[in-house]
Amino acid sequence: MNYDLLIEKAKEAMERAYVKYSNFKVGAALLAKSGKIYTGCNIENASYSATICAERVAFTKAISEGEKEFEAIAIVSSSNDITYPCGVCRQFMSEFGLDLELIFTDGNKIETYKLRELLPHAFTEFETKGGR
Ligand code: THU
Repeated sequence: MNYDLLIEKAKEAMERAYVKYSNFKVGAALLAKSGKIYTGCNIENASYSATICAERVAFTKAISEGEKEFEAIAIVSSSNDITYPCGVCRQFMSEFGLDLELIFTDGNKIETYKLRELLPHAFTEFETKGGR
């Protein structure tokens, strides 16, 4: 997997963030198992809770285009730090597999994790079906 390409795509998407309220830009680039990359940026709203994060934009684009399986997602932000996904996004992404590789960069160092590391004891479909 070429992390550099995915990070580059995430940075490009970040520039399209609609962040009228926080001015905090986030970009994501999601690699589907098909080989296609789907990008997302955060899109804010005057009704703050209607805001959607970059990660979920990337996923909704991919799922709605017919993708079902994913390899990796790169996430960048306009801060000088690594930006880890919010709890809602961790849960949202978990629906599509806890083996997803997450790639973060602050512009210098790169960190990678499996989603299962960032969402221990995940609540999944198995819980609703009486266990694993
Ligand atoms: N945000 C994301 O896009 N992804 C995250 O994982 C964390 C938060 C956005 C939502 C909002 O537009 C801004 O960052 C500040 O919370």
